[in-house]
Amino acid sequence: MSNLFKGRSLAVIDDFSLDERLFLFDKAKELKKLLQENNKSELEKYRINDSDFGVYEVFIEDSTRTKESFKNAAEFHRVKLSNLEANHSSINKSESFADTFNTLCGYDNLVFIVRSKQEGLCRWLEENGKLYAGRNRMKQTPSFINAGDGKHEHPTQELLDEFTFLERNKWNRTSFHIALVGDLYHGRTVHSKADGLTIFKNVKIDLVAPRELGMPEYYIDKMKDNGFEVNIFDSIDSYMETGQTAPVWYFTRPQLERMGDDILKRQDELRYKIIFRKEFLDKIPEDTIFYHPLPRHKLYPTIPTFLDTTPLNGWEEQSANGMVIRIILLGLVAGKIGSDYKYGENGSADTQDSEDFIEELPLKETIVTKDYAEGVKPISNGLVIDHICRGESEKEIREHLARIIRVLELYGKGGEWISRSRSEQDKMKGMIFRPGLPEPGTKKMKQLAALAPGCTVNIINERKVIKKLKLRMPPRIFNFPNICCRNPDCISHSSQGENVPAEFNRITGDKFRCKYCEKPHSFKEIWIQ
Ligand code: CP
Repeated sequence: MSNLFKGRSLAVIDDFSLDERLFLFDKAKELKKLLQENNKSELEKYRINDSDFGVYEVFIEDSTRTKESFKNAAEFHRVKLSNLEANHSSINKSESFADTFNTLCGYDNLVFIVRSKQEGLCRWLEENGKLYAGRNRMKQTPSFINAGDGKHEHPTQELLDEFTFLERNKWNRTSFHIALVGDLYHGRTVHSKADGLTIFKNVKIDLVAPRELGMPEYYIDKMKDNGFEVNIFDSIDSYMETGQTAPVWYFTRPQLERMGDDILKRQDELRYKIIFRKEFLDKIPEDTIFYHPLPRHKLYPTIPTFLDTTPLNGWEEQSANGMVIRIILLGLVAGKIGSDYKYGENGSADTQDSEDFIEELPLKETIVTKDYAEGVKPISNGLVIDHICRGESEKEIREHLARIIRVLELYGKGGEWISRSRSEQDKMKGMIFRPGLPEPGTKKMKQLAALAPGCTVNIINERKVIKKLKLRMPPRIFNFPNICCRNPDCISHSSQGENVPAEFNRITGDKFRCKYCEKPHSFKEIWIQ
């Protein structure tokens, strides 16, 4: 029977569809019960039980819970478990991640658990791993599981959090009200909640953090796009004043040290806003529960240790759930369990290339002289690209014309022109005239759409426009030498030196997100000046 999970990677929580996550939770629920009952014969059905099946842990940043729970999960499965001593590896001799992981794939390893500072690394490894597996006829595509990448995501923590919340909600998915408290800026576990909490139908999120540690705008937008009600508070004090606190609080550890000297000077004041104090205890409803992905800071825990012995303590069960979830995840991507999955059809939908961003327009005016008589000598045969960068400044249009010519190699006779738009006199636009040039092929047309969305392409023959195309913003921008992600921590950023080609997927309008780190970019931000 086919298994939709086998060989899959998990770079972000959304890589597993809602149905797939619910299936995983059902399996985890069954397994947790069997573990509690110590039902040895039934537990065997969950084990990979293959001492040749290679699972590799590659932790380039420190970890206790994620690393050790995966280790214990791998031991449950009785597989070959290895650990790359990242601090003593050739990564320190400037070896690329691609070469490092290709080497480990070559030793018959099929699942990699990867924690890194670089954001989007697992997405890149997934792509690179597929190519390597094809070239080297591996028996299975290797899976790359993101164990936390910079400030981006922590999808396996998200899985165990969702499982824990569902347990607490008695598996009722109708509604969920949660407060996220702490360092919402750096905390990757809370970023994964923007997509992860879609397991609930109605979600209310209270964000409690001082402005300096606030949730990045991008994730707030994502929450709202997912239909969540979002409320923002700058401290626990101001949150308590509402008298309407959430039944579930999710704390995170402040990572103030990452924010520079100005913030460090104010660390006591900032911490004070997100540390739970004794005086709040009798102001929260009795059935409130606290969670924390852990670790807690031993000197300044946002959940103080005097709460360990109270009914607020949900974080210990949450942490223990980590191993159960990771046993199931390993079993799924290994193809041991999951053949009985029959909810949805697939994982999250890929952004598909579509041709509808190149539209052929009906021809109204066919006389060239009328169309292009704005001080420019009309051409008899060739190509006229019009309405380039309409509404931009003259300087920006000039720079972009030069970029289009350079990238598409539109060298030769003809010229460029900047003029007022006839339909909107207050707006400027650019044009490129190239006598003698034929209609560009599909690849060039797609490139032109990416470079100059909104432009029109006119094919001229014997002074008549014989074809007119309107190019819109394409769904993907890739394969250009002069595009770059602006996030220096992204695996595709040039400063990382990994030679990962930048690629952007359109979210909406002229907003794109980096394929790897998912940072949003406006169309203009994509291009290197
Ligand atoms: N929650 C979590 O990721 O903990 P570790 O950093 O100890 O793995």
